[in-house]
Amino acid sequence: MRRDAFSRRLMRETRLAPDDLIEPVFVLDGEDRTEPVPSMPGIERRSIDRLIEHARHIQALGIPAVAIFPVTPTEAKTPDAREAYNPTGIAQRAVRALKDALPGLGVITDVALDPFTSHGQDGLLDETGYVLNDETVEVLVRQALSHAEAGADIVAPSDMMDGRIGAIRNALEGHDYRNVRILSYAAKYASSYYGPFRDAVGSADNLDSGPGGPGKHSYQMDPANSDEALHEVGLDLAEGADMFMVKPGLPYLDIIRRVKADFGVPTFAYQVSGEYSMLKAAGERGWLDERECVLEALTSLRRAGADAILTYHAQAAAEWLQEEG
Ligand code: PBG
Repeated sequence: MRRDAFSRRLMRETRLAPDDLIEPVFVLDGEDRTEPVPSMPGIERRSIDRLIEHARHIQALGIPAVAIFPVTPTEAKTPDAREAYNPTGIAQRAVRALKDALPGLGVITDVALDPFTSHGQDGLLDETGYVLNDETVEVLVRQALSHAEAGADIVAPSDMMDGRIGAIRNALEGHDYRNVRILSYAAKYASSYYGPFRDAVGSADNLDSGPGGPGKHSYQMDPANSDEALHEVGLDLAEGADMFMVKPGLPYLDIIRRVKADFGVPTFAYQVSGEYSMLKAAGERGWLDERECVLEALTSLRRAGADAILTYHAQAAAEWLQEEG
């Protein structure tokens, strides 16, 4: 059955297409600026004008949506993260510019406070450094509304506070943003694979996530847990989330599978920065064939049950898939 390409094609259970990919973008202040991310070769931070050019190319490749991650200047970071809901903040301006220039391209925004807090945590802290859930949710609601107001199609809370989905859904309904969808990072693990991302958005320096440091273990999930992911998805589904993210990707294929099988909801995977950098580094050294390994990893995420994949390889993968016809 496997001898010939034609029969392998007929029997193939899983397909990967540009339709399944989401392109993450890091956005900078200023004009006509790009900066490489040293721990993520091939990935750039871009000013909004450069982002538009890039997004046009992404859309032409058939990728349906981009996810925006702003790089906040250090001066704008505060303990109360008020920059998160600035109507003229980088993320809000990027959304407006993208929806103006490319109305058909889906725009997803990240709802979490880490790019805006001086301490790099996703929420507000009490005097002991513990993240305050309910106070944080109030700020997240303001942030999500500012994204909706700017024209975001999907708001994606990636903060792991409890009760934020219900609060955001209510606020969106109350302000006539009924069609703004919520992508919940319901199963987001306290992972060490996020390191390069924290460099990219500049939250790493402020965050003591080394051994003994508080890291994000008091709100992100324990990598040892699986039932708990279902518990989290169940809560967020009941609160009104439309889609669900499992994060990271490849080390958590079992979680993707369980979420998809148990709930039958739109389930996305986030192949995170550390996964990108590992494949990239091994590829650069000639230890792995980057293209084959990336396509295999993405196909595996789809096979596990992911409907779509947020991945830093989106552009390259779409180009390779196009070449393959
Ligand atoms: C935080 C956030 C993180 C990522 C996206 N949003 C990391 C974190 O929890 O510090 C990481 C993504 C990646 O590693 O690619 N709201």
